[in-house]
Amino acid sequence: MATNFFTESIIKGLTSPQKYIPDSVYYDDNQGSIYFEELLLNPDYYPAHCENEILNTHSENITNYLPQNVTVADLGAGEGSKTKLILNALNKAGKLKAYIPIDISHRYLVNISREFKKMFPQIDILPVEADYYSAMQKISTEKNLFLLFLGNSFGNLDKNEQQEFLKFIHSYTKPGDFLLLGLDLKKDEKILHRAYRETCRNWCFYLFERINRELQADFDKNLFEYHTEYSAETGEYKWFFISKTTHTVYLAATGTEIEFKEDEKIFIGRSFKFDEAEIIKMAQNAGLEITDIFYDSKKYFADFLLKHL
Ligand SMILES: C[S@@+](CC[C@H](N)C(=O)[O-])C[C@H]1O[C@@H](n2cnc3c(N)ncnc32)[C@H](O)[C@@H]1O
Repeated sequence: MATNFFTESIIKGLTSPQKYIPDSVYYDDNQGSIYFEELLLNPDYYPAHCENEILNTHSENITNYLPQNVTVADLGAGEGSKTKLILNALNKAGKLKAYIPIDISHRYLVNISREFKKMFPQIDILPVEADYYSAMQKISTEKNLFLLFLGNSFGNLDKNEQQEFLKFIHSYTKPGDFLLLGLDLKKDEKILHRAYRETCRNWCFYLFERINRELQADFDKNLFEYHTEYSAETGEYKWFFISKTTHTVYLAATGTEIEFKEDEKIFIGRSFKFDEAEIIKMAQNAGLEITDIFYDSKKYFADFLLKHL
């Protein structure tokens, strides 16, 4: 991941009136990505298991909707275990032409490219190390695009960004291109806290470690409390740190001083939960047609197959 992107994101977030740490910095080439991989294996972290079940069951059905010579572009490819299920089905149907993993994590891109090159030697693998938006601008001329945005990464965007993101996808795709959007559905709060509260604590505190290392900062994690909250009405699950005392943190790499007040909340991430109706509305507003919706057996998660009209 480019240091500039990291530095700019952190400084922008910590100098805003409502301080925040953007969720793109959770994934680095060190411990950050390892925490994510541990989370994927945790039995309480249902989103990964449910989407895995969906793609194990329905990859062939999804493939049936797609044309020949598909180029799969994977927005935030990660470690790619779910992508593999889709690529396997497309390959079996003789429809797979190329695979473009997109990620800001260099380590993920190297690993996934190496692994998939071995599994699918006959296809082009064209990794793009960039954020979603710059990457889409680079790849938009590819024919028969099939975009993947899995793992409820869409739910990490705020409400305005969600609608804008779908419009952006529409503007950088062509009629007949598809998007598979993996979404976490609204459910009992207890299930959400089990999946997200304690399972993410160490990963969240790791953010301070990363900032201290990469920006020569002097965050003391003992001066912050970890806090999560959920609104059943909006479907927004949020993570925060709360400063226990008024104190100043110095980021030597940029010469920036950040003051934290006692009880000040620092927003460190969100994960929206959805109902079908709001997704249908947002997709339609963006000019994307719902081709099909695939669910796991508990109906905790859904993969929406959307088509550029
Ligand atoms: C929640 S993981 C999802 C991984 C995989 N698609 C899955 O469903 O398991 C998010 C992935 O997106 C990457 N990522 C996060 N923010 C990004 C951004 N703004 N642009 C590109 N990749 C991003 C992370 O490095 C990470 O690999």
